[in-house]
Formats: sequence, structure tokens, C-alpha cells
Amino acid sequence: MTTSTPIFPPSSTLFPSTIGYKSELQTGSDGLLHHLLTLDGLPAATILRLLDRAQQFVDGSEEPAPLFGTAVCTLFFEPSTRTRLSFQRAAQRLGADVLNFDAATSSTTKGESALDTLKNIEAMGVRGFVIRHREDGVLNELAQHVNADTRLINAGDGRSAHPTQGLLDMLTLRQAKGEDFSKLKVAIVGDVLHSRVARSDLHALRTLGAGEIRVCGPASLLPPVDDSGGMLHGCLVTQDFDEALDGADVLMMLRLQRERMEQGLVASLDDYRRDYGLTEARMKRAKPDAVVMHPGPINRGVEIDDAVADGPQSLILQQVQNGVAVRIAVLEALLAPVA
Ligand code: CP
Repeated sequence: MTTSTPIFPPSSTLFPSTIGYKSELQTGSDGLLHHLLTLDGLPAATILRLLDRAQQFVDGSEEPAPLFGTAVCTLFFEPSTRTRLSFQRAAQRLGADVLNFDAATSSTTKGESALDTLKNIEAMGVRGFVIRHREDGVLNELAQHVNADTRLINAGDGRSAHPTQGLLDMLTLRQAKGEDFSKLKVAIVGDVLHSRVARSDLHALRTLGAGEIRVCGPASLLPPVDDSGGMLHGCLVTQDFDEALDGADVLMMLRLQRERMEQGLVASLDDYRRDYGLTEARMKRAKPDAVVMHPGPINRGVEIDDAVADGPQSLILQQVQNGVAVRIAVLEALLAPVA
């Protein structure tokens, strides 16, 4: 790991080692995927099956199994544009009934817990829940209290996991670079410490055999190598953006969570852009055919410039497009599994 004099608090104080999911909770006694909580521990065969199915929906070569009469609720306790709406689109494509829970106008404002909220909506006959929550690992708890035929999908919790983002990123990468990831040099850049997207991407990239994974950001925004629950296992970790970019095939840029500035983890937006902003000039260090990804929302002119985000090497809107197909595949796998 490239080192420098630490100027921020050690990130181990900000990063609980208990972060993560019990992947065994995902699979039922029938061997089928019952919930999608994390990509950590999900076998390559399962990931590839979901990607292949999603690709069929992108190509229009297959129609998904219908979910007429099945109700799906998007239970979001945190804001979202892409994830919530693409799950809605996906559920509509399947013919499911879609209920949107609005935390701001719900009885959670009167103190009702997430579990009581879910159990009450479940009692209305809802079978599928797409859940976003600020607390790490909250779906571990929920999964242990739902009915046997209820299915949970993690739409992003705390810093732990965002599995459907990880899947759509892998689908997008496969479309751009082919199915063999073993030759790819992938750089994940930015606020890695707080990023559930980075965690899910790292699990998926390792499982699918990515050749080299580089993780880059300021010291204050990198997980500690020895206290990361294996998150950075096998990765090149550097604070030097140029080193991370050098000859890279894939640049996965992460959103700088602006609240980190208030916490003193980033000196200023200008400093951040200077050191970690992806500009057209910086792109030249990567391979000429390198592709650029970002989960959104983007801080334009901070972690990425307009010319790059909207340029010919950007896959950002392709990621969003693939999000619908991936979420159709996930809803189908959980709620209408085919033998
Ligand atoms: N990528 C992502 O999770 O975006 P939203 O927060 O808009 O859902």
C-alpha cells in the first residue's frame, strides 16, 4: 500500500469490523435464492445466471415469467432515484402490483420500527420487499422475521451492500469488455470507506475473476487494510490516483459524499477534484479504450468532469439502463423461480 503521513483520524474508528451480511440467510432449504442481501458469498454460477437472464431481457430474446397478482413494495427509508424507479419499472414489466412506501409520510415518523412496518405491509399480502435503509445489516434482522414465502432484496443499506448495483455494474462491464474479466485492470476510486457500491462491486469482481483490482482514494476515505473484513483482500490499495489510472481498463468512480467534508474527512472540494477528480487529461493515463462507470448520483466537476461523464467512454447511462433488466432478473429469480 502506498503510504503518506496521516492527517485525518484513523479510519478504523469509523469503520466497524462487524459490517456485512450472513450470506447463508439468502438461500432457502430448497437451495433456491430466497433473498438477495449481499453478493458476498454468492456463488459465481448464481451471479452469472442472473447476468445471463438480464442480458436476455436487454436483447429482447426472452420474456420474464409473469408476476400477475404478486405485490411488491419498495420500502425505502433513504432517498433514491435510480434504484427505486428501476425496481418499479422492473416490477411493472413483470405485471406485479407495486406499492411505494414513502417514509416521510409514513407511521415511522411516529416511531414505528422498520420491522413493524414491514410486518404490517406483509399482512396486506405483499410478498416482495425492496428495502433501502441507513443501518448496516438491517436486512439480516428483517430476514429472520418474515414469512417463509416473503422475499427481501437489499436496495442499499448503510455502507454494507448494494447487490443489484453490483450486478448491473458487472452486466455493463461484461457488455463492454466481454465475459473474461481475468485480463482486466479495474480501478475503484473515491470514497471507498463509506461506499456500499464499492463493497458489492469488489465482491462481484473477485468472484468473477477480475485480473487486477486497484482501490484508490484519500487516506481518510479508504478502509483500513487490516480491519476491513477482507474487503480489500487481494487489491492494490493506493492514495495515488495516477498509479490507479495507469493502464487501467475500467475506472469505477464513486460519489464523494459531501457530508464527509462536514466531518473533516475531505479538506475541500477543490482539493478533492485536484487529487481524485477524473478529467479528460487524467483519462489519458488509462488505456485508450478504458471505460468509465459511476453509480450516480454524480457530483459533476468534483469526482468527474462533464466531458468524461458525458463522453464516448462513459457507460454511466448504460449502467442505469441495465439496472432495469438486472432487477427484472432478480425479482423473477426470487418470486417466480423457474426450475
Ligand atoms: N446508484 C444508486 O443507488 O442511485 P440512487 O441512490 O439514486 O438509487
